[in-house]
Amino acid sequence: MPTRQTDIRRYLVPVYTASTPQLFTDCLVIGCGIAGLRAALEAAPHCNVTLVCKGAFSDSNTWNAQGGIASVLDEVEDSFEAHIEDTLRTGCGLGDKSVIEQVVREGPGLVRQLADWGTAFDRTDGEIDISLEGGHSHARIAHSHGDSTGRGIAETLINRVRQTPSINVLENFFAIDLLTDDSGECVGVIGQRHSRSLQIIWAAATILATGGAGRLYRETTNPECATADGLAMAWRAGAVLRDMEFMQFHPTTLYIAGASRALVTETLRGEGAILRDINHEPFMKEYDSRGELAPRDVVSQAILDRMLKTRATHVYLDIRHFDKAYFQKRFPLISELCESFDINVSTDLIPVRPSAHYMIGGVKTDIHAATSIRRLFACGEAASTGLNGANRLGSNSLLEGLVFGRLAGRSAVGLLDAAGPVGHRRMLFEVPPSDRSRLDAEDVRNSLRSLMWRNVGITRSHAPLQEAMETIRFWQQYVMDKVFASPFGWECQNMLTAALLITHAAQERKESRGVHCRQDFPARDDTAFARHIELVRQ
Ligand code: FUM
Repeated sequence: MPTRQTDIRRYLVPVYTASTPQLFTDCLVIGCGIAGLRAALEAAPHCNVTLVCKGAFSDSNTWNAQGGIASVLDEVEDSFEAHIEDTLRTGCGLGDKSVIEQVVREGPGLVRQLADWGTAFDRTDGEIDISLEGGHSHARIAHSHGDSTGRGIAETLINRVRQTPSINVLENFFAIDLLTDDSGECVGVIGQRHSRSLQIIWAAATILATGGAGRLYRETTNPECATADGLAMAWRAGAVLRDMEFMQFHPTTLYIAGASRALVTETLRGEGAILRDINHEPFMKEYDSRGELAPRDVVSQAILDRMLKTRATHVYLDIRHFDKAYFQKRFPLISELCESFDINVSTDLIPVRPSAHYMIGGVKTDIHAATSIRRLFACGEAASTGLNGANRLGSNSLLEGLVFGRLAGRSAVGLLDAAGPVGHRRMLFEVPPSDRSRLDAEDVRNSLRSLMWRNVGITRSHAPLQEAMETIRFWQQYVMDKVFASPFGWECQNMLTAALLITHAAQERKESRGVHCRQDFPARDDTAFARHIELVRQ
């Protein structure tokens, strides 16, 4: 990582263990998406668990996931080998085969377990319906309430968590920093609950399941909570981060100027939706023989190219040929969304364009969800497990969260048995007052999001990346030395840290691979870059 680091402070806030209220727990889970919830449920029969969520339970990328969860549910037409091969191929040479095999093979059992626990997957004649998505060679996407799959799964897990007495849930708890002791072990977290005073939670095992980083970009499908907090926290604590250049852009988000960018699930393309340019011409076959069913990186890059060639702000998704009653039943969320903007899908085209969707990189883990820091585990979007390589196959993320969430819960319990609890530690970390000018955090955040979209977006090249690095470092000089008292400021600091890591890794990878598309290095370079870029704070 660059030596000219301006975000070198270990903790964002002063840490005085002597005067800060404290809690003790066996297993601390930070994050309430599918991975965090599943991890908590796995650990709970064996120890006491504290689950902290940044906002409400519903504030997660999982809650918003539409398309579904991928797994081999049709054992006749589909196979584990096919799902493994699709995931490996989409990962463009960087997927870890042993991780992929484990996730794919454990998938069907865990999806059926969700159904047993109450997730209402859509069914026909009692069998779970499965859909097709880009990059998958077979239909294998299970969905719930049509296009509200994430919410269906999250509600099941949340209900179960609420009914588990050994899980103590703290909503509206902003985790500021992981605490590490003199030997570098993670011993818990310092945070703020309900915007009041700071609080320390000491934990024998900590599971980071803080989700993604989409809010680093002006255009994103992600909810407001996705500000890369876990990635920045892990970085400050000294964890190895990997594959940070691989931000996945979803090809189709509703584009209405002034409205937030709502996801328009790619399952629509799986069911025959056609992409048309501003002149209403179909174009995907010109870019890839798989047309609309090509993987996301290909479709996003094709859309961007077409937008540039036609000087348009968007393209269109055409579902005019869909049976309207079927569409309303199968995609109720999108149906409602279109109606809310007076788009009649039988006669009108849906304006769409790509936006930042999923952080493939993250905190490096092994196959047991262990990070490079003892007593710290990671899972879900915050983790880099090796499943996705340089590009993620649609609907593999809920699956990864489910499988690695369970693994993290198990590993935490195993560690507890082996290493025992963590008691109170004495820590004193002071922050000198800043003598630099203060920038407006809201302005920095907005400017950063525009900069990332313009300079570190779907296509990249040296000069814009360099400009982004310098601009982020400039802002860091005035933001990272401050002590904020609320999440808005801490998020701004985390966003700057993660943005620099993404930009740095994007600059390092001088080739194009998967979701990382360099205009100045358009070819894949297996000689120099068939490897991961790992970053660790010096
Ligand atoms: O298009 C979608 O429904 C998104 C799915 C995913 O990101 O896995």
